[in-house]
Amino acid sequence: MTTPATVTEEAVASLRATADPRLRDVLTGLIRHLHAFARETRLTHKEWERAVRFLTETGQTCTETRQEFILLSDVLGLSMLVETVNAERTPGATESTVLGPFHLTESPVRALGADIDLVGGGEPCVVSGRVVSADGTPLPGAVLDVWQADADGYYDVQRPDVQPPGNGRGLFAADTEGRFWFRTCVPSPYPIPTDGPVGELLSATGRHPYRPAHIHFIASADGHTPVTTHIFVKGGDYLDSDAVLAVRESLVKDFARTEDPALAKEFGITGPFRHARFDLVLERA
Ligand code: BEZ
Ligand code: FE
Repeated sequence: MTTPATVTEEAVASLRATADPRLRDVLTGLIRHLHAFARETRLTHKEWERAVRFLTETGQTCTETRQEFILLSDVLGLSMLVETVNAERTPGATESTVLGPFHLTESPVRALGADIDLVGGGEPCVVSGRVVSADGTPLPGAVLDVWQADADGYYDVQRPDVQPPGNGRGLFAADTEGRFWFRTCVPSPYPIPTDGPVGELLSATGRHPYRPAHIHFIASADGHTPVTTHIFVKGGDYLDSDAVLAVRESLVKDFARTEDPALAKEFGITGPFRHARFDLVLERA
């Protein structure tokens, strides 16, 4: 017979026929922690029902272009923890951070130097740098998938009526020396979606929904482990209170204002612009 004293061990024992040993370990950990959580908090029926309703609504909020479960994982700090736990750390390698829910579409292939801001209106900006291996060897042809919100703080998929598909996105191949550069607008802080269950959770806990201004990257190259990361705009708001707890100091970059005519000419810009430099260092696979 099951009793409160035996239920946890019985639930764990029910996994004994699981063929995949990793699946058995993960589920065992999950059961033990869930049971400990319910005991510690003395979880009530009402609270359990509320949690089930919350998770149901979270699933029902997901669509082709919206992933509320990832958002939930993000605001609880779980996504960032998984990043950290899995980071193999070759010293000097670029740190990773969360993928976020807006890497939904294949980024359009663009030539080096292309402008990913198809709408305009924001402050002109160039991002440039190199992709290198951890020992400093350049990685020619490394692929950079880049995406960001527009100057109003929205991704293309959030406002298809205002932004053309692929706005703020680009897939670039580094040149023969591993260099890359592209034009865009300076990103601005934006709120994560608040019109679903995760938004309710934030307001019930007195949290603001803002992310500091950033540009996303996934960098990959043959023989290397891809890195999913962002750069953040130094001096911007919310760097100390990111709604998804994903800021790492090494990823905060100066978006320096420049009027250098030689640099402007090199990037095909007229007038002052902001310039962020970012070298991506990949670990050997
Ligand atoms: C993003 O930066 O795109 C993002 C990341 C986590 C949650 C919501 C948005
Ligand atoms: Fe983002």
